[in-house]
Amino acid sequence: MESIPIQQQAEGESKAAFLRRFARDVRNGLSLPRKRLPCKYLYDDTGSRLFSQIMDLTEYYPARCELEIFQMHKAALADLFGGPPLNLVELGAGDGTKTRVLIGQMRARKTDFTYVPIDISRAAVDCVSGRFSRWFPGLRTRGITADYLAGLKWLSGQNHCRNIVLFLGSSIGNFPARDREAFLRNLRQSLNTGDCVLIGFDLVKDIAVMTRAYNDAEGITAAFNKNILTRINRELEADFDPGLFRFYSTWDADARAVQSYLVSTCAHQVHIRGLRRSFDFSAREAIHTESSHKFTRHQIRELAARNGFAVAAEFTDDAGYFTDCLWRAA
Ligand SMILES: C[S@@+](CC[C@H](N)C(=O)[O-])C[C@H]1O[C@@H](n2cnc3c(N)ncnc32)[C@H](O)[C@@H]1O
Repeated sequence: MESIPIQQQAEGESKAAFLRRFARDVRNGLSLPRKRLPCKYLYDDTGSRLFSQIMDLTEYYPARCELEIFQMHKAALADLFGGPPLNLVELGAGDGTKTRVLIGQMRARKTDFTYVPIDISRAAVDCVSGRFSRWFPGLRTRGITADYLAGLKWLSGQNHCRNIVLFLGSSIGNFPARDREAFLRNLRQSLNTGDCVLIGFDLVKDIAVMTRAYNDAEGITAAFNKNILTRINRELEADFDPGLFRFYSTWDADARAVQSYLVSTCAHQVHIRGLRRSFDFSAREAIHTESSHKFTRHQIRELAARNGFAVAAEFTDDAGYFTDCLWRAA
């Protein structure tokens, strides 16, 4: 197993570069009239562990539905991915629960592939690489700790072989609309014509079902969101008191998204030593932490066409809550 850090990582300058970017993003986000923090920073080691717990929650249907799709359609997917050697590249791999099903099937068919998990969270890359080397002895794995942008840069150098990209868990729904289009264009440009991507989209459904998924009874999602404050405290020497913030999520009909916030319960000030700055919070002022956009089938087909992809197949769970779409780079 090979693990190559390419952008954000543990040692020396690259760690320093990551911290500079984190500091800049926190400063910019908290300086806005409507404060926000980029959701990619939710995933430090603790955040990745909490997200794994979220995936097991009864309320969090996306993980269950997508796993059902993989279990139901693993043979069809493995058929589609058969043929010459390939890179199976997974963007935002997480703990690889669904990918395990696919890899098991591909191995049974003796498909020749290298698995390349790419994730901003070092803990996620280590977890999935470690688990897969135990579950699938001899599997060629190349773990990359990087954000999507750096991951796509690596992918664009892979034009000597076939690439299949997995982008699961409706992570596509976390981009603001304009960034989503830019990401898909960049993804298309990083691929060879004929390469495929399998993208998980959460479909628009009953509002109560969607909002419950982001506000579970046990409070794990609240802890996941509040952890970003603890991370800022640790990495940028801030004095956030997470106890002064309440987690709140709501359906935004205009954006077709569940929006997540941390809401200040009182007027107070937070000092971030690493930024040499303080930030004022008024009572009930919110920090936006995540958007989870939901999609219609029509919108998904338009997204593919606008960004240079042809729809090759669609796989949906029994309840019709979630769909994994296979797009071919046209
Ligand atoms: C919603 S989770 C989905 C995990 C997995 N794909 C699944 O379906 O179970 C998002 C994953 O993407 C990673 N991630 C989030 N933002 C990222 C970014 N900008 N670049 C790279 N990875 C990112 C997180 O660390 C996390 O593992």
